[in-house]
Amino acid sequence: MLEDIERVLISQYQIMGRIKEMADQITRDYVSYNELTIVPILTGGMIFCADLIRQLPMKMKIGLMTVSSYPGASLRTQGSQIIGQQLGDIHGRHILLVDDILDSGSTVKLVVPALQQLGAASVKVCMLLRKDRPAARETQCDYMGFEIPDEFIVGYGLDYNNYYRNLPDVVTLTKKAIEKMR
Ligand code: IMP
Ligand code: MG
Repeated sequence: MLEDIERVLISQYQIMGRIKEMADQITRDYVSYNELTIVPILTGGMIFCADLIRQLPMKMKIGLMTVSSYPGASLRTQGSQIIGQQLGDIHGRHILLVDDILDSGSTVKLVVPALQQLGAASVKVCMLLRKDRPAARETQCDYMGFEIPDEFIVGYGLDYNNYYRNLPDVVTLTKKAIEKMR
């Protein structure tokens, strides 16, 4: 595991600090709402979501949505697909979508309309990371933690072939690590 890391892009300490700032902003923005529903996009969004919501003091429910976009050993999105959901009744509810990274935008463009279709009163998007590419910048993103270069990264929820999600920092992988999984 650790020998596969090329370099640390964002440390767990930077992430913690930034999450506190994002949570303060979200708390201010939602002050006039009674409550909200947080929807992490699984699997990658669950680590960020777990850290974020513990900094949010308001009344909330959690709904789950599983989206697949980088199946197996892919380094580019293969198009997003909703492969499971456990949302409960979200009719009339304010939704905050939480995910690890905004890349091509296909996940957001798939999930936001799906939630609106189910009658959500509002849908906002909260991403820890956004890749520096036009497609990402043109996609709805109401809260963003860090803008990063357009590179393949893992850790803090992000995976390669479903591995490395448990690394505490956001890192790049060595070429050797990428090759051995192909
Ligand atoms: P999008 O739908 O192209 O915006 O991509 C969003 C999803 O692709 C994220 O939720 C991640 O699961 C995955 N993804 C995008 N970039 C990376 C990466 O660099 N490493 C690992 N997963 C990524
Ligand atoms: Mg994901």
